[in-house]
Amino acid sequence: MRMDGQELYKKGKKLIPGGTQLLSKRPEMFLPDLWPAYYAKAKGVKVTDLAGITYTDMSIMGVGACILGYADPDVDRAVIAALRNGVQCTLNAPEEVELAELLCSLHPWANMVRYARSGGEAMAVAVRIARAHTGKDIIAFCGYHGWYDWYLAANISEDHALDGHLMPGLEPSGVPRGLLGSALPFHYNHIEQLEEIVARNNGRIAAIVMEPRRDQTPEPGFLEKVKKIAREQDAVLVFDEITTGFRMCPGGIHQTLGVNPDIAVFAKAMSNGYAMAAVVGTAEVMESAQSTFISSTNWTERIGPAAALATIRKYQEKHVDDHIISIGNSVMVGWQNAADEAGLPVHISGLSTLNHFSIEGDEKLEMATLFTQIMLEKRYLAYTQFKPSFAHTKKHIDAYISVTKDAFSRIADAHKKGSVRSLLKGSPQRSGFYRLT
Ligand SMILES: Cc1ncc(COP(=O)(O)O)c(C=O)c1O
Repeated sequence: MRMDGQELYKKGKKLIPGGTQLLSKRPEMFLPDLWPAYYAKAKGVKVTDLAGITYTDMSIMGVGACILGYADPDVDRAVIAALRNGVQCTLNAPEEVELAELLCSLHPWANMVRYARSGGEAMAVAVRIARAHTGKDIIAFCGYHGWYDWYLAANISEDHALDGHLMPGLEPSGVPRGLLGSALPFHYNHIEQLEEIVARNNGRIAAIVMEPRRDQTPEPGFLEKVKKIAREQDAVLVFDEITTGFRMCPGGIHQTLGVNPDIAVFAKAMSNGYAMAAVVGTAEVMESAQSTFISSTNWTERIGPAAALATIRKYQEKHVDDHIISIGNSVMVGWQNAADEAGLPVHISGLSTLNHFSIEGDEKLEMATLFTQIMLEKRYLAYTQFKPSFAHTKKHIDAYISVTKDAFSRIADAHKKGSVRSLLKGSPQRSGFYRLT
């Protein structure tokens, strides 16, 4: 007999602390007690759960990793070929050099590349290189950059009771208290906050680490000023493109913003779900990787670079950016129309390819949970975020928006009657952490 996903999740939580390896995949974030939790198969935009039910994924597509769609045939073909020729060996995989060449050609300001296999890990590599290069310790940062000590250090406070206050939900217990003051946050578009960090730590900044943009458009001159400060401070400018990379153009979103960093870090979409990450930088900064120890066996396996090469080539050949921008825009327009028709106060924001909405008012979380519940009953994995992929078609969008219209009108009706909570079959979803952007 097949086990229901929620049953397996209960068992999983007893065997795996926290149940999952990634906060953003916790079923509680979507639909507590009812989310299918595990998949048996994922292909294109279709996901089949353990009970054999197939859904259309109109949510986060493998947390933004599967930009071409699940199990893309061209990427999988390249991976299978790599696999047949041996994925690990005493010698190195030549794809590493080919991929470095491709990444540098996409980012002409860059000359060298190091690899890892996950985003947070690659950010730790970038920060280590920056510290090695400058001989300094302090990192000024904006936004989320993974689970490593260098980053969680920002959540250590002089007063234990205040630990975690900057980014609630990211607990720094287990991070050496000696790192207090080594990672200092500022908000996006608040250059005065970065200036204040610099004023208090003049000459001690190793790197400025940030996403070049996310939800907010950069204020005129903001990124240019950040770069100027990096130059004046002799600090390395690191752009985290783990989520924004390959979303708006082939490579980093910074290319659309006119400011180049010293290092850009990629993961997620660059390899369509296969484990891969790249730290791309200028030769001057990247050479400092040789003055410190950065080395790992699994960073030498062949599948990651083979998948990245196939993903990027297909992306370029099919102009995937045009497709996902158009699909993302259609969904945003569809959400707005559905909200207007239902008279539901919905706030829509984000880039066309990293978009999201919130239903405003009291019972915010309850209404978002009801949305996911209604959509799941209609065989959609749906959430308040949508990450379009090359596998999403206009037909998928039209069908999804028509079901969304019905969902929004039922939610508006329930809200008027005060029955949202009673319509939920489980508890309301839990919101994630606060990102500082
Ligand atoms: C901007 C940014 N940086 C770093 C990370 C961490 O990457 P990973 O989950 O692959 O470790 C993420 C993941 O969501 C991210 O969005």
